[in-house]
Amino acid sequence: MDALRSPGPLLTGMRAVVTGGCHGIGGAVTRAFAAHGADVLSLDVDVSAPPATDVHGAGRIEVVELDVTAPSAAQRVAELTEPDVVVHNVGHFLRAPRLFQEEGPADWAEMFRINVDHVFALTATLLPGMVSRGRGGSVITMTTVEAHRAIPGHAVYSGAKAALEAWSRSMALEHGRDGIRFNAIAPDLIETPQVPYHQLVDEEDWWRWRLWAPLARPGTPEDVAGVALFLASPLSGYVTGTTLHVDGGSRAAGGWFPRASGGWTNRPRDP
Ligand SMILES: NC(=O)c1ccc[n+]([C@@H]2O[C@H](COP(=O)([O-])OP(=O)(O)OC[C@H]3O[C@@H](n4cnc5c(N)ncnc54)[C@H](O)[C@@H]3O)[C@@H](O)[C@H]2O)c1
Repeated sequence: MDALRSPGPLLTGMRAVVTGGCHGIGGAVTRAFAAHGADVLSLDVDVSAPPATDVHGAGRIEVVELDVTAPSAAQRVAELTEPDVVVHNVGHFLRAPRLFQEEGPADWAEMFRINVDHVFALTATLLPGMVSRGRGGSVITMTTVEAHRAIPGHAVYSGAKAALEAWSRSMALEHGRDGIRFNAIAPDLIETPQVPYHQLVDEEDWWRWRLWAPLARPGTPEDVAGVALFLASPLSGYVTGTTLHVDGGSRAAGGWFPRASGGWTNRPRDP
């Protein structure tokens, strides 16, 4: 594979769409793809600080203000680009923890509207073109560690993200022969506007990262962007129907925690 022999850009000549592509994880994905030569259409409701790339010879970034959950959004995207790579990045847990029994159908529908419906709508609209152009492609869906691990107080959120993963796996089979790969990225602990750990965690508690995450630090949007770049590029040409976890090891740890004094415990005590 040429990409293994050459240190050059990985996405030269490709076109990509990134939803929620201006800030947080999506902003980092947009910058990484453009730095590797892709022309990127970055869709966002907040275009106040569009991502820029200062890498010589990089691809173009076009920023378009668009609510990807709007009924007309998918058609608008199809009019703007013919992508090889689609990154479904928009998603949110929406609210403070609340028991399932305290929710109702309107809450469930809103969770699926923000996390799932636009992924289906955009894929359904862009896929026929991807198939007929015959260039193959990569569809990457941002899920969460909580599609694999419980999250009390956010049961419907975890169900919505798990639905995306199951969908992505089946799509990988339906479109393998078209050379279109479907994969998910399941992040956890990534510092973004949605989860601003520097605001959420007091400075005197910052040392506790070595208790919370096996890699002993929060993740950065760039940690996720590197994996998205891999999944978009020929480096992952034989990878489809799977999920890559970008969580500092939190899923692997499950209910295990390092002790401040050394060793591990699955029976943490309240201080
Ligand atoms: N940060 C984490 O640790 C973490 C953990 C698990 C899953 N995720 C998932 O990763 C994805 C990105 O997370 P993040 O933390 O970077 O989020 P974020 O909220 O910080 O950034 C989301 C981006 O999407 C834009 N956006 C929001 N709604 C939109 C809409 N309707 N249309 C277009 N743009 C919209 C925002 O303006 C922003 O640029 C989400 O799907 C999230 O569920 C993140």
